[in-house]
Amino acid sequence: MCGIVGYTGHREASPLLLEGLRRLEYRGYDSAGVAVLAAGAPARVARCEGKLGRLRELLDKEPIAGKCGIGHTRWATHGRPTEANAHPHRQGKVSIIHNGIIENHLELRQKLEAAGCKFASETDSEIFAHLVDRELAGGGDLRAGVARALGQVRGTWAICVLHDDHPQEIVAARHNAPLLVGLGEASEPENFVASDVAAILEHTRRVVDLEDGDTARLTRDAVEIFDAAGKAVRRPERRVDWSPVAAEKEGFKHFMLKEIHEQPRVISDALAGRMAPQQAEVRLDGLDLDFGNVARILLLACGTSYHAAMCGKYMLEKLARIPVEVDLASEFRYRDPVVQPGTLAIAVSQSGETADTMAALREAKRLGATTLAVCNVVGSSIARTADHVVYTHAGPEISVASTKAFTSQLTIFVLLALHVAKRRGALDDDSIRRAMQGLSAVPEAMGHLLGQLPAIRTIARRYMHARDFLYLGRGLGYPVALEGALKLKEISYVHAEGYASGEMKHGPIALVDENLPVVVIALRGAGYEKVLSNLAEVRARGGKIIALATMGDREIADMADDVVVVPDVDELLQPLLASVPLQLLAYHIADLRGTDVDQPRNLAKSVTVE
Ligand code: AGP
Repeated sequence: MCGIVGYTGHREASPLLLEGLRRLEYRGYDSAGVAVLAAGAPARVARCEGKLGRLRELLDKEPIAGKCGIGHTRWATHGRPTEANAHPHRQGKVSIIHNGIIENHLELRQKLEAAGCKFASETDSEIFAHLVDRELAGGGDLRAGVARALGQVRGTWAICVLHDDHPQEIVAARHNAPLLVGLGEASEPENFVASDVAAILEHTRRVVDLEDGDTARLTRDAVEIFDAAGKAVRRPERRVDWSPVAAEKEGFKHFMLKEIHEQPRVISDALAGRMAPQQAEVRLDGLDLDFGNVARILLLACGTSYHAAMCGKYMLEKLARIPVEVDLASEFRYRDPVVQPGTLAIAVSQSGETADTMAALREAKRLGATTLAVCNVVGSSIARTADHVVYTHAGPEISVASTKAFTSQLTIFVLLALHVAKRRGALDDDSIRRAMQGLSAVPEAMGHLLGQLPAIRTIARRYMHARDFLYLGRGLGYPVALEGALKLKEISYVHAEGYASGEMKHGPIALVDENLPVVVIALRGAGYEKVLSNLAEVRARGGKIIALATMGDREIADMADDVVVVPDVDELLQPLLASVPLQLLAYHIADLRGTDVDQPRNLAKSVTVE
């Protein structure tokens, strides 16, 4: 989604802003721009449609000097991706960048046009530039003027504002869209503002998260924050321990490939310090929920996180014997859901900023549920809104296609299921210890599995021209099939469908012929025999079968065209391993087809609009 970075200090702003925007590229965007102020002159704006390289060329040709500036990458919501619609928007002496949506923009636009304002873009964001310009027509305090302008709009925003008469100053404001302040660490004074910490990590690790309703004034020497009521407040500072190197590709061709290979370490990190086998205890970041009073769990998520939540349902029900429902966050909030007393709603989100998941979480809260967030991004909106939070510790996920976040979420679900099982007395200590042992062995097994990379590329080459794929699985293999299909479609643009294999006879079998590759999750476990029957049905109709089989399974080799062998682990842990070859299959097909793997078309990393 859109990205924001701002700088005020002793250095030239343009190169810093460009570098910050480059680090936000993974969020997805269709245009970019900067506005830079130098004392005694109006701010200068450079912006263009398309990739950052174009903006860099513009700035190389006509550099903009100045030590205070704001930069933006836009992902179109209102108005096409054109230069005119790119941010910053300028009106009078005001330059603004905005993430979010102004809900009453049509009404405001009509009013402003009637008062003689001329609009230069189709965006809702430009409204802010006009409103602030009018508020400051007679001069005055920039932050107060921005606050008055904000009082007239409804919607969501992270905004940064420059004013020609305030050459060192950036005013920032946040309401339901991420925005943080970076406190300079260099010997000379400087300060930063960004929608994502990755943009400024190279320069500072000292971060202050703005709260909804806050406005902030940044100069090179100071940062002042005011709450929604205009009262000066102090927000806590935190130190970010993600290294900037973690946001680089480290020699892999794509971030996605790098992140797939990071998974053994990510799972170790997610487990680190959380299991106490002696006491058969799982400790989750001090989670102190009384699970004795929880009658039902409701899992809310979107996309890949939703597939992890589907696995979570199986895990929680199996180990903790507690009823679990899974809902797409985008559906939950609009269907007048019934939330009974004793409900624990768990919002699952890598970014912690997904608008639908956030809205569903709020709705669950409003209806009386206790809430817990399973999140990757510390200090994200969802993490801060829920009553409790458990972090997945997967590190920054840059690739739009989620991989390591998924397996880290699965790891948390197994841990959570064991934690709840212990609290509710659903499992004896020996069973909990055995499960912990199994979990501890996953990173090594996954490392071994990743060694099969060349074989999967060969399979990918064989099927890279297929127009459709079917993914089949049963039990925990079903959400794994859904996730495998999602990975393939989002990065290779090949149509892929995931199905519960038991449903195949109820419709999708009609699709099967010699042109349809069918990926079957056929690991040993409760539904194994049934999956074999489904496999035979596909084979009888000429379908090409790519099977995931448990190491040592010789039966499958005779039934499938291609077999990927997965280490033998407890059935509940199979999704952790089975998802890896499917991620790789999708990756290699996309790479062979030459798509933009890390930034697939039409997609954004963090979907902060509904
Ligand atoms: C995953 O590959 C997707 N790009 C997408 O489905 C994603 O999982 C979804 O938008 C939810 O994001 P979140 O986990 O950050 O809330």
